[in-house]
Amino acid sequence: MPDEKSFHMTPEEFRRHGHAVVDWIADYHSRLESFPVLSQMKPGEIRAALPADPPAKGEPFDALLKDVEELILPGVTHWQSPNFFAYFPCNASGPGILGDLLSSGLGVQGMLWSTSPACTELETHVLDWLVPMLGLPEKFLSSNTGGGVIQDTASSAALCALLAGRERATNYTSNQKGCDGRLVAYASTQTHSSLEKAAMIAGLGRANMRLIEVDENFAMRPEALARQIEVDKLAGLVPCFVCATVGTTSSNAFDPVAEIGRICRQHNLWLHVDAAMSGTAALCPEFRHIHDGVELADSYNFNPHKWMFTNFDCNCFWVADRKALIQTLSILPEYLRNQATESGAVIDYRDWHIQLGRRFRSLKLWFVIRHYGVEGLQHHICRHVQLAQQFADWVRKDERFELAAPVPLNLVCFRHKGGDAINQTIMERLNRSGDLYLTHTKLNGRLTLRLCVGQTNTQARHVERAWERIREEAAVLK
Ligand SMILES: Cc1ncc(COP(=O)(O)O)c(C=O)c1O
Repeated sequence: MPDEKSFHMTPEEFRRHGHAVVDWIADYHSRLESFPVLSQMKPGEIRAALPADPPAKGEPFDALLKDVEELILPGVTHWQSPNFFAYFPCNASGPGILGDLLSSGLGVQGMLWSTSPACTELETHVLDWLVPMLGLPEKFLSSNTGGGVIQDTASSAALCALLAGRERATNYTSNQKGCDGRLVAYASTQTHSSLEKAAMIAGLGRANMRLIEVDENFAMRPEALARQIEVDKLAGLVPCFVCATVGTTSSNAFDPVAEIGRICRQHNLWLHVDAAMSGTAALCPEFRHIHDGVELADSYNFNPHKWMFTNFDCNCFWVADRKALIQTLSILPEYLRNQATESGAVIDYRDWHIQLGRRFRSLKLWFVIRHYGVEGLQHHICRHVQLAQQFADWVRKDERFELAAPVPLNLVCFRHKGGDAINQTIMERLNRSGDLYLTHTKLNGRLTLRLCVGQTNTQARHVERAWERIREEAAVLK
């Protein structure tokens, strides 16, 4: 037979273009500081520059890279810029990017152990490594009753935790029968919105997610939680789940996990601990106390894709009792049956999350941990915290500004004393300048600026310059 016609990229072409892409990425990272951090494009501008119709004939690869440079780059907000201080970080690193590239290169879909044993076993192994690295309880180890799994995001992990809590509280009947409107879950007013979303998706209903009041430091009041549980029980409702946060999104508050855990034990409620960004800090012995009380949790998660140099997406989620999670999420159609599964000797991660298919995400996490070593990770995380603490000191000493919340780690919530309008203007002017990017929240009803230090390459000079720019803008407005 004559060779079939092919439009595919040959291995030699792939090698050449691949080198060009890696060069492009390396160059991009070395010129990051020359771009405005927040994209300055207006809505629709990027689409307007793109051809209306797809190409009928394939184009040379060089043309693709040229368009990335000319059409796409102006529409990119540079999350990897060392001057990115907005939201929570979503940092990346060389080893993380290369691990992700290898994952694409292998093109593995690891829904079952048997569809790629290394995808499952490396993941189990790396998540076991992280348990002592973060000072998490041994019950989360796969060699114990628990185990860890990589999810796409903290939102998905929270949903899985809530589903497992729902099932455990109904003796695994709500998957069969649906919810009867009596199940109740608890979080604080400062908990990430993904928990409310999880209550919507899990069929509890948003009205059945109780948002418990917080104290002056924005941490959940355990006595208010206990009171609300009693009220709900007396009303004939069925409390099933509590989420405690280690580092809230708005202000980096720490819920008292141990006290909340004791209440959960008393009422047999599933306790999920969300440490999306701040969990990474526990790599450093001096911050490991943030995990006090996690020994009482049924599940826990943090995002290496936020602060641990592992490019998006990578969420690590552990449960103390893997059977509860698997019983909640397992469904086995005939076409997925296989000997390894039936032997009971393997983990099939499809039973540990919502979707069936899964990428080989543990490669990038493995690369990051091996490249930096525990020592390297600790070094950079501690440095970020030091830089944020230094910034907080400058705020304290400037009479025009004040701190709006405690600064336990790498997030500084602060404001100009002149009121909301001035803070809004300062933020808009800074972000429009492209020199740095920061975002806001509201604390006690007042607009508050947030500066979070967590970008891979942020150094003292970037934080110094950010403070200088903030003061300049404040001076202009005087
Ligand atoms: C405390 C907390 N939980 C959950 C999330 C949601 O993260 P993800 O985008 O991984 O769903 C965030 C995001 O910032 C967060 O700060």
